[in-house]
Amino acid sequence: MLLTAVSGCLAVTNGNDLRPFLSAAGGEQLHTPQSYWRYGGYSGVRFRVNLTLRVHLVTFEWIMTPVLPRATPTTSPSIDFREPTKADGIRLWEIARDSSVLDVNSSYAYVLWCRDFARTSIVAVADDRVTSFVTGYIRPESPTTLFVWQVAVDADQRGKGLAGSMLGQLVSTARSRGVTHLETTISPDNGASIALFTALARRTGTGIERRDLFDTNDFPDAHEPEHLYTIGPFSVAP
Ligand SMILES: CC(C)(COP(=O)(O)OP(=O)(O)OC[C@H]1O[C@@H](n2cnc3c(N)ncnc32)[C@H](O)[C@@H]1OP(=O)(O)O)[C@@H](O)C(=O)NCCC(=O)NCCS
Repeated sequence: MLLTAVSGCLAVTNGNDLRPFLSAAGGEQLHTPQSYWRYGGYSGVRFRVNLTLRVHLVTFEWIMTPVLPRATPTTSPSIDFREPTKADGIRLWEIARDSSVLDVNSSYAYVLWCRDFARTSIVAVADDRVTSFVTGYIRPESPTTLFVWQVAVDADQRGKGLAGSMLGQLVSTARSRGVTHLETTISPDNGASIALFTALARRTGTGIERRDLFDTNDFPDAHEPEHLYTIGPFSVAP
């Protein structure tokens, strides 16, 4: 199959495109693949022949590759998960602002967070750009509780499992440091967030409970109530 593809390529090239070039270069007797290679040293000839061969070999590969569904497209950039650094604060603020859902805190709050709470926070990075984040802290009154403050994923990156992966990694790291429970607050109309944390409880094989925490009177502005969701207990990692 490979030989057929290559020789077919040479016949076409030899019979049509190359003849004027070879003639000008003193290559009149070009009739076989062997003579082709002998005259291939002329610059104009080399360029055209190489180009033609390449097209055929690519075509050959395509023919021989079975068309199979891929779980992950090969063109997807790889995702890196890591603790945020101070320099990521700008992107966290931008992502929160662009979400149109989250409370947008001051830029200073995000920069400070990346410095002081990096160990309980995480970012997802693709092509050197932070696309998603989770911010969290260990509750001072309850050192076995990780409180998740904000989760956000760039709109064009949603539905790919990024938020679930970030939370899974945060919980895994926190468990190794003695954390047994995760808390977060969610406003009643945020179905995506409720689904996200319910899925986390299911994946970690533990329970999820909801209680009232802050109602509208607890806020100075027109803020929705916030329900407290508690997930756990997680078995502490060995
Ligand atoms: C909520 C948000 C973080 C989800 O990010 P994501 O990367 O798309 O979520 P994932 O792909 O990891 O999905 C995790 C789970 O949540 C579910 N989920 C995510 N978005 C959902 C939606 N809009 N509706 C219903 N379920 C949703 C997924 O189906 C998945 O559950 P499964 O494992 O049972 O299938 C993202 O939509 C976002 O940034 N929203 C704006 C900010 C926000 O509301 N943050 C949450 C409050 S802090």
